[in-house]
Amino acid sequence: MEVSICRDELCSWNTLWKWTWFTRDLWISEHWENTKRALDPLFVFLPKMSVKSILDCSCGLGFKTITFAKEGYDVEGSDASHVAIKYAPQLAKEHGLSIRFFHSFFKDLPEKAHRIYDCVYSDYFDELGSYEELRESARGIYSVLKNGGVFIFCSCSPKWAKSKLNELIERVWKDHEKFEINPPVKRENLEVTHIAIAEKTSEGILENNIFLIREKELMWAEIAPIMNPRIKWTYWDYVKILKDVGFRRIEYIEKVKSEIFVIAIK
Ligand SMILES: C[S@@+](CC[C@H](N)C(=O)[O-])C[C@H]1O[C@@H](n2cnc3c(N)ncnc32)[C@H](O)[C@@H]1O
Repeated sequence: MEVSICRDELCSWNTLWKWTWFTRDLWISEHWENTKRALDPLFVFLPKMSVKSILDCSCGLGFKTITFAKEGYDVEGSDASHVAIKYAPQLAKEHGLSIRFFHSFFKDLPEKAHRIYDCVYSDYFDELGSYEELRESARGIYSVLKNGGVFIFCSCSPKWAKSKLNELIERVWKDHEKFEINPPVKRENLEVTHIAIAEKTSEGILENNIFLIREKELMWAEIAPIMNPRIKWTYWDYVKILKDVGFRRIEYIEKVKSEIFVIAIK
């Protein structure tokens, strides 16, 4: 059996979106519920900031983009994964929506967005792998915001100092699913089974997503390792980077337990 393993994060995201789209009937209804729950605190906060337009800049298949659109926002979605950007408009169409989705890394937004927004939202900025990537990404996001606009992203609470991140990883690991095998999904000539095996690392939880694909007599495996979540940066790291690239004020609102939404104002 041929086995291919993604060697970089982009390959992993593309593989993950390709097969999670294929198997979506298995998980989609639960994902809609989780999406709505994750964004609920923002639907109280955004009207107070007079936000009308939003860029969901790590949109994946577009669940949050679509949820923002259904709440009446003028919304667009962008993502570094070409595969996600191929399927997101289809998901929006299934919900009667026509939304602009475009391919872009955070750092390339100034060239790719062709407009500015009242708000940029990301559920992934906090999980970037290197300090330099965080800084370049923050700069790209800053450039597509109006003056007074807000950048909103998820983070661990300010109480988690660098020296305590190990403790946070242990806590997340305790509640994390360690091994998951989903029922096979069949469509046309393909049958796909998704297995996820998690391991604890010094930077967070590494999820090894294994897709077993059978097409008639052929069988192969595609493996997409993803840090989910990466727990490497503190709230104070983000504050420093955001101030360095020009954000005027940084605040936060509570999300759940030890998580917050960081609100950076241009
Ligand atoms: C957690 S997933 C997004 C999930 C999605 N928002 C949802 O609600 O289902 C993170 C996304 O960030 C994208 N991503 C990772 N690094 C990026 C970067 N530097 N610039 C833009 N997108 C990036 C990945 O391709 C992936 O689709």
